[in-house]
Amino acid sequence: MDEYIKNDKYIKNSKNDGNVKNSYHWYPGHMTKAIRMMQENIKLIDLIIELVDARIPLSSRNPDIDRLGAGKARIVLLNKSDLADPVYNRQWADFFREQGAHVLEINAKTGAGVKAINGLVQEACREKLERDRKRGIVNRPVRAMVVGIPNVGKSTFINSFAGKACTKTGNKPGVTKGKQWIRLNKGLELLDTPGILWPKFEDVQVGMRLAFIGSMNDEVIILEELACDLLKVLRELYPESVKERYDIEWCDTPDKMLEAIARSRGCLTKGEGLDLKKASGILMDDFRSGRLGRMTLERS
Ligand code: G4P
Repeated sequence: MDEYIKNDKYIKNSKNDGNVKNSYHWYPGHMTKAIRMMQENIKLIDLIIELVDARIPLSSRNPDIDRLGAGKARIVLLNKSDLADPVYNRQWADFFREQGAHVLEINAKTGAGVKAINGLVQEACREKLERDRKRGIVNRPVRAMVVGIPNVGKSTFINSFAGKACTKTGNKPGVTKGKQWIRLNKGLELLDTPGILWPKFEDVQVGMRLAFIGSMNDEVIILEELACDLLKVLRELYPESVKERYDIEWCDTPDKMLEAIARSRGCLTKGEGLDLKKASGILMDDFRSGRLGRMTLERS
């Protein structure tokens, strides 16, 4: 795939007229604060429930969580599995299992797969529960925190998992002031604020994949460039889907392909030229919503 991807992309910013290269870099503020909060919260929990985007399971996680969460039980949820290729969902599940995590494919939006998590929590925390029992501690619930990068589906998941039936347990002695726990059942409590991790942008392709799935602010991205980059990747990984969706053949270059999509979808400017921005928007929407098919852009 590398030969398709150039490192020098165009990016808009306030200091120029849009003719600067798209670096797919994004420096969120509050990074240090987020890490500090995470370190503080991790001390309070037994189990980390980490959400990743099944379409890009590596690019959508911050590997620092492995260090931050050392010694904690771990569940990895391949969220948005409804949008990802089922073949690769299974491969990624095996990949994370080999790394010692307990894994499930879920769709937080519909709740599919979410019920199975309770059983998995018991499995993931078996050692801790056993240790507690030996020390004579019974009925101490497992405490878990949901973590993930922005937009991966943490709030949707917490709503779907905790549902309406849950009760907030309020502050307790020994718990940092202001922390709220959601009691899911007598064996499990969830910290109500998810841990926000930031993606790592050391590799330009990570930033690009995050932009593809819509986890980077589209306002700082030149849409036509992004669409052309996506076309390069799709030509490699899912060539038939694009042809079928727009009823076109692959052209020599992504620019020409974008023009073909614009023609096929009747995207015209007032002066009867092709509206490539509109065509780019259509392509990105079709990809992000799954209308192009279930696609996984990273392979284990
Ligand atoms: P966050 O807390 O981690 O930042 O993410 P959040 O729950 O806000 O979810 C981000 C977007 O992802 C939401 O879409 C949400 O509906 C969608 N989403 C979450 N889980 C899944 C899933 O498993 N499958 C699919 N297809 N989508 C999922 P949105 O467009 O921002 O809102 P909405 O229009 O869906 O309400």
